[in-house]
Formats: sequence, structure tokens, C-alpha cells
Amino acid sequence: MLYTRTSSHELEMNMADEACSLLDVVFSPVTLPVSRLTVHNRLVKVALYEHLAPLLGGAPTRLLHDLYSRWATSSLEQHWGMIMTGNVQVAHDHLTLGRDMVIPESDDPAALVSFRALADAMHSPGRHGSLAIMQLSHAGRQSANIIGGRTLLSQPLAPSPVRVGSGKEVRYALDALSYVFHALLFQTPREMSIQDIDGVVARFVHGALVARDAGFDGIQLHCAHGYLLSEFLSAKTNRRHDEYSCASPQNALRILRRIVTDIRAATGLVNFAVGVKIGAGDYSSGTDVGLEELTLSERIAVAYISEVASWGTVDFIEISGGDYEKPDFMTASSSKAPFFARVAKAVRAALDEQCKSTMPRPLVILTGNLTTPRAVQQVLGAETRSAPSADLCGIGRMAILRPDLPARLAGELQARSEEESTDDDSWWRTPFHHMPNPTPPSWLPKIGLVGAGSSMAWYNVRLRALANGGGVSADGGELDDKMGPVSAVLRMWLWFTVEDARKLGWYLAEWAFWAVSLFLIVLLAWLMTAYNDGM
Ligand SMILES: Cc1cc2nc3c(=O)[nH]c(=O)nc-3n(C[C@H](O)[C@H](O)[C@H](O)COP(=O)(O)O)c2cc1C
Repeated sequence: MLYTRTSSHELEMNMADEACSLLDVVFSPVTLPVSRLTVHNRLVKVALYEHLAPLLGGAPTRLLHDLYSRWATSSLEQHWGMIMTGNVQVAHDHLTLGRDMVIPESDDPAALVSFRALADAMHSPGRHGSLAIMQLSHAGRQSANIIGGRTLLSQPLAPSPVRVGSGKEVRYALDALSYVFHALLFQTPREMSIQDIDGVVARFVHGALVARDAGFDGIQLHCAHGYLLSEFLSAKTNRRHDEYSCASPQNALRILRRIVTDIRAATGLVNFAVGVKIGAGDYSSGTDVGLEELTLSERIAVAYISEVASWGTVDFIEISGGDYEKPDFMTASSSKAPFFARVAKAVRAALDEQCKSTMPRPLVILTGNLTTPRAVQQVLGAETRSAPSADLCGIGRMAILRPDLPARLAGELQARSEEESTDDDSWWRTPFHHMPNPTPPSWLPKIGLVGAGSSMAWYNVRLRALANGGGVSADGGELDDKMGPVSAVLRMWLWFTVEDARKLGWYLAEWAFWAVSLFLIVLLAWLMTAYNDGM
């Protein structure tokens, strides 16, 4: 290995060697510890809700098949190590934004064909193809009115009856506005009974079996971002006093453990991957500190992850964070450092100690703002002086802007490793693609969910463009389309396929039928009363 002496007399690897070393680390295969499946490189396209399933949920559509084959076939040489679907809901009446893929309730051959086509589309051709992973989720209390797939009066399920946005103290006009906004969108959930919990466990297991039968290589259980499984982990949303309370990691994770155990009982250990996405507590920034310096909520996150690892049945744990009340992770830009790196590093150290050689150690995926070669290098510990924060890099928004990111990174690193020695650091700090940060116009009230909503809309419209064969700028610069946040929101929501129009037509006709029936009953009752009075 070659070193050059810097002015500060520290030893530093030269840039060509750095490129060579990162190339080796990123494109080295790794084996999932329980399923024994091979991930061919360290780049993971993480779950991104697509908004391309039928209105009010359903099986994958042709657009979804086309979208996933963009990621799978973006290059012939280097693929993504894993490709994950956006959250697929296990309950048709607990959707997120109304166009979620949904696991069919019973054996529906047509839906299975469609999921099978999706798994096929996600498998890249050749020996070193990506693993196709389905993310399974239940939206819990964050399933909004109407678009969540329920009528206005029916409540969503949650560990405790705490509505989204109800915990914030109302002191200023903006707080009051935010309160009303959340009250219109979300209902106070119904506290889950033990039978409800049993039902949800069964739905997740059924979802995993659908994934396996459709040809997916595994599933990821969504236990982050404030959805149902993560609601059990936080004192903010879990006020229970029974064995599902959050008084201990064992209680808080009991529902997740039951799901994992039952899935493993049904699918066996090998050849089918089971992973978990879990929240890292609060935001954590840059500095490299030991476990004792983490915040309380970060230490709780480490304890949760250690507990999951102790089951010995989970292949990978993805670390992420935030929820609908604190959705900053969706709006942050490439100028910020990777999120949650501190927690991930503490997690990895704790798991190394805990698992030693006696137990399979789940691989750690770190997701959030990995936008530059330097960030990937730091996370994987490809520098000489730093310990890795994770085994795999989770890439979200950059995978939309650069669906061929693995091949591009490999090409660039190869070229740099063959270059004459240079100390120019700028390439390492340049984002893989210009990253837009579509913030809402200043005249809109500053409500977190509104900001995250416009950012989400921007990326959802780009996902649709990708599915239609466009959506990528050739040179990594700004995309031609200067779509603003308002336009993004309109384009996300005012989009209907013929199938949707038919569904919407039936939906409105059904409402009209009930409204007319009600009117006729009232009219009849009034006429009868009038007739009786006249007698
Ligand atoms: C449009 C969009 C949709 C998302 N959908 C999901 C999802 O379905 N499931 C999930 O776990 N995370 C979802 N996320 C969060 C991402 O997986 C990821 O955690 C987040 O974007 C941070 O990573 P990044 O900085 O690489 O984008 C979504 C993010 C965006 C922007």
C-alpha cells in the first residue's frame, strides 16, 4: 500500500490507493448469517414507497414491474447487492398514501402472478444478480383517513389510543394549525386487543409466505418511521401495561419476535432472508464517540437491536429513524453527514461483542444521506483509520436519481485507481447526483409533514418517470424538469389510470346509492308520518 506524507506529517493513503481499497470493499460479497444467501456487493437500494399500485391498494402493476427492472438491469456488469420493494402492506385497510402494494387476503392466483412478475423483474440477469427483498409493513396509527383504505368513522389499530400530532403542546397559532391539520388527517386509533395482535402476527406471516411463493429471496419487517411495529417501541405511542408494554426490550419487541419466530417456523432458516428496519431514536450527528456518550433514546435503540440479534434468526438490521411527527430525514439534503452513523457504529461494536463466534451476527445496513463516495467509504470503514459503521450501505433517494449507481461507482473507482497519484479530494466529496431539496413555498405554514409531503411527492413523480423509461439526467447534473414542490404535489396526486377511474366511479356510485337510499327512506318516513297525521 502506498502512502504520502502530508504537511501535518500524518500518514495518508494516496487517492489512487483509496479508490482501489474502496473498490475492493464495496464490491466484495458477503454472506447473510442465517439464510446463507450471498449479497454480491455492499450497495442496497432501500425501500421507497412508489405510489404506483392501484388506487386504494392492490397487487403490483405493470408500472411497478417496469420500475424495478430499471434498477435490476441498469447495467450488465455491476448490480445492486439487494433491491427492496417499497412498503407492501399486510392489511388492505391500513395503507399509507393510498397506492400501496397489498398482500392478497387469501390465495388469489392473479395477485400471486403479479407478485411473481415483480420478483422476476427485481432479479438481475447473470450470476451476480441482486437479492429481491419485499418490505412488509402495517401502517398502524399513521394510516390516514380515507386514503388509508378505511371509511371516515373506522379507527386504525395501534398499541394505544394516541393520535398522530396529539402530543404536542399548543402554544402558538402554528401549533393550533398543526393540531387541526393532523386531526383532519388522522383518527385516534383503537387500542389493540390480544386478538388484534394475534391477527396482525398472522398477516405478517402470510405476507412472508406470499413473498416466498412469488420468488422473493426474503423479506424485511418495517419496524421504523412510526408505523405499527415501531409504535410498540416508543413510550410516546405505547402506553400499555401488559406483556406488550415498552417497559423492557423483551416486551416492546414481543410482537416482532412472534412474527420472526412464526416466519422462520414456516420458511425454515436457510435460503430465505429475514431482515428488520428499525428506528435509531433521535437524530445523531457526526462525532465518533463510545456507547456511554449516546443519548438515552440512542442507548434504548442499541438495546433493542441487541435484543433482536440475540434471537439468532435475523439476517440483517437496517438502521433508520424519524416518523410522521419528525419527518426531517425525508427533507434533509446532501450537504449533511450520513444520519445515524454514530448509533450504527455503537450497534456494530455491541453486536460484535455479543455474538462473537457463538451466534450469527446480523449484518448492519446504515441508511440516510449516503450521497458521496466519501460517505460510503466512511460507513464501510474503507479508510485506514476508522472502524466501519455498517456492513452494507442503504441508498434511498440517490437510487432514484442514479438507478445505475453501483456500475457508475465501480467505473469511477476503477478509473481513479489507475490514475497517477493525485491529492485532489473534490471527487470524493461530490454527490453522486445533484440532490434537489424541494421545500414548500414560504407562504405555507411550517408543518413538518407538509415539508416531507412535498419532498416525497417530488421523488414519487420521479419514480413514475423512471417506470415510464425516463427520469434520469445523463451527466449527473440537474434533471431537465425543474419541478417545484407545488407542481410535484399536484402531479403526485392528480394522476389516475383507466383502472383507477373505474374504481373511483364505482366508489362514488356506491356512495351515491347509499345517499339516495337514505334520502328515500327519510322521505318515505316523512310521507308516512304526514299521512298518519292527516288521518
Ligand atoms: C419517496 C420515498 C419513499 C419512501 N418509502 C419508504 C418505504 O416504503 N419504506 C421505508 O422503510 N422507508 C421509506 N423511505 C425512507 C427511505 O427508505 C430512507 O430511509 C430515507 O429516504 C433516507 O435515505 P436516503 O437519504 O438515502 O434517501 C422513503 C423515502 C422516500 C424519499
